[in-house]
Amino acid sequence: MTQVHTAANDAAEDTVTLIDNRTGKTFTYPVLNGTVGPSVIDIRNLYRDTGMFTYDPGYTSTGSCDSRITYIDGDQGILLHRGYTITDLAEKSDFMEVCYLLLHGELPNVAEKNKFVRTISRHTMVHEKLRGFYDGFRNDAHPMAILCGVTGALAAFYHDSTDIRDPQQRLIASHRLIAKMPTISAMAYKFSKGEPFVYPRNDLSYAENFLHMLFAVPAEPYHVNPAMAKAMDRLFILHADHEQNASTSTVRIAGSSHANPFACIAAGIASLWGPAHGGANEAVLKMLEQIGSPDRIPEFIARAKDPADPFRLMGFGHRVYKNYDPRAAVMSKSCHEVLDIVGVTNEPLLKIAQELERIALEDEYFVDRKLFPNVDFYSGITLRAMGFPTSMFTVLFALARTVGWIAQWKEMIEDPVQKIGRPRQLYSGATQRVYVPLDER
Ligand code: ACO
Repeated sequence: MTQVHTAANDAAEDTVTLIDNRTGKTFTYPVLNGTVGPSVIDIRNLYRDTGMFTYDPGYTSTGSCDSRITYIDGDQGILLHRGYTITDLAEKSDFMEVCYLLLHGELPNVAEKNKFVRTISRHTMVHEKLRGFYDGFRNDAHPMAILCGVTGALAAFYHDSTDIRDPQQRLIASHRLIAKMPTISAMAYKFSKGEPFVYPRNDLSYAENFLHMLFAVPAEPYHVNPAMAKAMDRLFILHADHEQNASTSTVRIAGSSHANPFACIAAGIASLWGPAHGGANEAVLKMLEQIGSPDRIPEFIARAKDPADPFRLMGFGHRVYKNYDPRAAVMSKSCHEVLDIVGVTNEPLLKIAQELERIALEDEYFVDRKLFPNVDFYSGITLRAMGFPTSMFTVLFALARTVGWIAQWKEMIEDPVQKIGRPRQLYSGATQRVYVPLDER
C-alpha cells in the first residue's frame, strides 16, 4: 500500500512524498506547475528510486510532455490555442492565421500572414509521380487508407526536408504537409469518383482551393460559394489541434525515434481513423442512418445504456470534456448555417440528431457520466450537407489536424528534455518456462 502527501517546502518548491507502506521508506518528488491547469508530479526518478513503475492504462493521469500550444479545461469546457479561445478564433480568425499561430506561437502581423499564405500556396502541388500511387488502389479503397499511404510516401519524394535536426528542413516539411494535404485528400476523393484530378489554384484561399479541387470538373466552370468556403475554413479551425489526444500522442511517439515528419503524420492519420477518435464523425452519420427515424431513438438509447451491449452513442462523450465541448457549440451553429445555405431545412438526419441530443442531455445515464455531444456529432451532418460522402469525413479531420500534429511534432523535436517514447508495463503473463518440442506437445 502506498500513500501520497503533498507539501510546499521551505525553498518554495512544491513536492509530493510517497510512503511505501511495505517498507516505511519515503520518496519525495517535485511538483511542476504550469501556467494554468493541474500541476504534475515529476516522477522521472521514480523507477531509479523505488524500482517501481506507474500503472496508467490510457494515460488518464499521465502528462507526457511540457507543451505551450493548446490548453483544455474539460470541466469548464475551455479550449485555448496559444491562449486564444477556440470561439474567438472560429469567429474572428481564419485557418491560415490559426496555422501560423499554432506553428509559431503568435498571431501573424499583415506582412507575416501574407508571406505565410504565399508560402503555403506555393507548396500545394505534388510531384507528378505521386499520381501513380493512386492507381495502385482499388476504386473502392477508403480515402483514409489512401491518405495514410500517400502521406507516408511523401518522404520518398521530398528528401530535402527529412533531416529532422535541421530547423529549416523542419519548417519546409511543416509547410509542405499543411499545403499538400488538401491536394492529396482531394485526389483521394476524385479517384473514388473516377473523375480526373484537379490541380491546385494559388489564387484561391486554402478552403476555396480545397473545395475547387474536390468539386470542379474539366467540363464546366466551378465557382466556389464563399459562404461554403467560410464554413469549411471554420471547420478546419475547429479541428486544428487538441492537445495530447491519441493521434497527436502517436505523432509524438513516432517522432521521438527521430522518424521523418511525413512518416510521423502518416502514423497520426492511422490513429485518427479509429471510430473512438476521428472516425467518430463518420460513425455518427452511420448511426443516424441506422436509427432511421425519431421513434427508434429510445431503442438505441436503451442499447447505449446496456452494459452488455457494445453499442455506444457515437458523437457523445469525450475523454477530457466533462462539460459541453466548446467546439460542438460552434459546430452546431455552423451546421445550421450550412443547412440554410444549401436550403436543407428538412434534413431527416438532423431531426434525429436534435432529438437524440435533447434526450441524451436529459437522461440520467448521460447526465451522470457527463456525456455531452462532441464536435463530431455536428460535423458529420454539416459535411453531409456540404456534399461530402461519409467516407471523406475523417479525411477532412486529418487535413485540418495536420497543422496541430506538425506543431506538436516540432515542439517535441525542439524540446531539450525530449527522449524516445518508451512506456513500461505491468507484466502478468507466464514466467520463464521450458520449451517443449512440437512432437512432445
Ligand atoms: N455512449 C454510451 N455510453 C458511453 C459513451 C457513449 N458514447 N461514452 C462513454 N460511455 C460510458 C461508458 O460505457 C462508461 O460507463 P460506465 O462508467 O457505466 O462503465 C462511462 O461512460 C465512461 O466511459 P469511458 O469509456 O471510461 O470514457 P473514455 O474517456 O475512456 O472514452 C470516448 C471517451 C472514447 C470518446 C467515449 O466517450 C466514446 O466511445 N464515445 C463515442 C465515440 C466518439 O464520439 N468519439 C469521438 C471523440 S471526440 C474526437 O475524437 C474528436
